[in-house]
Amino acid sequence: MRTFKGVHSGRRHVNGIRRHIGSVIITFLLIAFLLLLDSLIFKIIDYAIHQSISTTHDSTEIENTGAGRLDNVTSSVQMYERLLNLASISLAEKEITHESSKYWEESSPHLSRWKPCSGTKMSKGFRREKVKNNTGFIVVSANGGLNQQRVAVCNAVAVASLLNASLVIPKFLYSNVWNDPSQFGDLYQEDHFMNSLIDDVDIVKELPHKFQSLDMEAIGSLVTDADLSKEAKPEEYIRNILPILLRNRVVHFLGFANRLGFDPLSSELQRLRCKCNFHALKFVPKIQEVASLLIRRIRKNSTSRSALNEQLLGNFQPTLPSKENNKVHSKYLALHLRFEVDMVAYSMCEFGGGEHERRELQAYREAHFPLLIERVKKSKATSPSELREMGKCPLTPEEAALFLAGLGFSRDTYIYLAGSHIYRGKSHMHPLTSLYPNIVSKEDLLSQSELAPFMNFSSQLAALDFIACATADVFAITDSGSQLSSLVSGLRTYYGGGAAPTLTPNKKRLASILSRNKTIKWGNFEEKIRKMTEESQRVRIRAFGRNIYRQPRCKECMCKLQ
Ligand SMILES: *[C@@H]1O[C@H](CO)[C@@H](O)[C@H](O)[C@H]1NC(C)=O
Ligand SMILES: *[C@@H]1O[C@H](CO)[C@@H](O)[C@H](O)[C@H]1NC(C)=O
Ligand SMILES: *[C@@H]1O[C@H](CO)[C@@H](O)[C@H](O)[C@H]1NC(C)=O
Ligand SMILES: *[C@@H]1O[C@H](CO)[C@@H](O)[C@H](O)[C@H]1NC(C)=O
Ligand SMILES: *[C@@H]1O[C@H](CO)[C@@H](O)[C@H](O)[C@H]1NC(C)=O
Ligand SMILES: *[C@@H]1O[C@H](CO)[C@@H](O)[C@H](O)[C@H]1NC(C)=O
Repeated sequence: MRTFKGVHSGRRHVNGIRRHIGSVIITFLLIAFLLLLDSLIFKIIDYAIHQSISTTHDSTEIENTGAGRLDNVTSSVQMYERLLNLASISLAEKEITHESSKYWEESSPHLSRWKPCSGTKMSKGFRREKVKNNTGFIVVSANGGLNQQRVAVCNAVAVASLLNASLVIPKFLYSNVWNDPSQFGDLYQEDHFMNSLIDDVDIVKELPHKFQSLDMEAIGSLVTDADLSKEAKPEEYIRNILPILLRNRVVHFLGFANRLGFDPLSSELQRLRCKCNFHALKFVPKIQEVASLLIRRIRKNSTSRSALNEQLLGNFQPTLPSKENNKVHSKYLALHLRFEVDMVAYSMCEFGGGEHERRELQAYREAHFPLLIERVKKSKATSPSELREMGKCPLTPEEAALFLAGLGFSRDTYIYLAGSHIYRGKSHMHPLTSLYPNIVSKEDLLSQSELAPFMNFSSQLAALDFIACATADVFAITDSGSQLSSLVSGLRTYYGGGAAPTLTPNKKRLASILSRNKTIKWGNFEEKIRKMTEESQRVRIRAFGRNIYRQPRCKECMCKLQ
């Protein structure tokens, strides 16, 4: 319609300048129209092929259906065909108008008033008292991956201070899941750790010789996760652990996953936890150096100095950009997708992959989660669609794509993808990569030889993701329960100066919005996604019992300037 009008007015006006402007507008509109048409036709073809495939797919002979050509198409799993098309059109329009998402920035100007302030020292006298009163040595063997171990370390620091004990630098347990023999010193700078906390807790590198040969279990000094309640209170440590310490002068905590609750805890110990997490744990130079290289590649050399970079990269902070780079600030969004097979299988949800996927996940559960199978058999199972309604299903890459599109991130957004082993890889990734083609991971940006020293150390690899997520302009997460998401968003709050937003979808609300996938208008979808996101971004002071590593905005951790 508009194009026709343009043609008429172009003919009518003899005025040369006007005609010129007219033809520019016509050309512009024509291009826009063609782009839209192109994307629509592509979508229609894609849709048609997909339909014909999914019918074959639903039949029982799944294995080896379709020739090679079709395999590529079959392999795309989609649940929200219609919304994806709308998103794709919306992104194409934004490409023409060069509209940028406002979610690159933090939402509230008040945020910059919060400053880090848990790095202060305890009075010297206080520590002397505690050392004089030393009750013995605490040994910790932490399990889990990089992030769970980080939490365990800082909780151990708090427990050692609570019990007036000396802490031996924590050991990290080797597990088949994580497949990583890295020890504390392979990940964090030991001397920095000891020096940062020197006024707070006595930390030693090794257990004194006379204790090393003791059989901890035999003397009753071995404390496993079964001996302590989850999120135990300080009194429990005083009541149950202190006597062992006073008797044997040594206690060995084995496991030590979330065995110290967030509240109630004295201000002194809360502050110490923050200090440990935000000041005392610095990655070793080996990790900092490669992470710095990674970030320079992500940012195409246009990095600048910041408190976050300083904290994470230390001496390997990129040098100030040269003049020519100064103007180009390569922004990036880091996305942490939690869609690995274990998580997907454990959720008992369905993800649009049909019968084949259903069977595959059931087989995985039978092999890996026998207890879960037992439990499901006994109780009345909640249906996959009910689980989805309750917000209990891990977000698919497709849902993450719709989330980002709803927030107006343009098609050319540079996305750093953290984590790996997305369930069914390309098939589930396809909806995301088709909307956002500029997705990279550390494996894309670092050469094999640069990655080689990390290859068999999943925690060290995870540290690279940790850093790349923490220094991103925007960090988008799909699972607020994940330790990496939690620790990274806390670090961004602490050091980001109110300019390091984290975008968190509320899974329950998102499920409710997406349940209208067949009818909702795109404008309405955008509005709902934005409202949901802004509500999660509201400045909050840490509430009682909340994770202090994730939400450091509280008096023990951060100071609020008036
Ligand atoms: C799938 O597509 C890629 C390029 O998009 C192509 O290289 C590959 O050969 C295709 N695979 C099959 C099985 O057709
Ligand atoms: C630890 O030392 C402080 C300071 O001397 C003292 O007040 C506190 O009672 C001691 N706590 C324990 C568990 O020994
Ligand atoms: C040590 O702790 C005990 C309680 O555990 C306390 O009575 C005493 O005052 C503390 N200080 C010294 C120096 O013993
Ligand atoms: C970044 O800098 C390195 C070395 O200084 C150079 O080799 C590379 O080409 C630069 N990359 C870009 C995108 O400018
Ligand atoms: C890493 O582990 C693989 C087997 O999982 C092994 O083949 C390889 O040699 C190891 N590489 C290094 C550097 O240890
Ligand atoms: C998509 O919409 C249909 C129709 O309203 C609904 O039945 C379906 O559950 C929705 N899909 C999801 C995954 O919410």
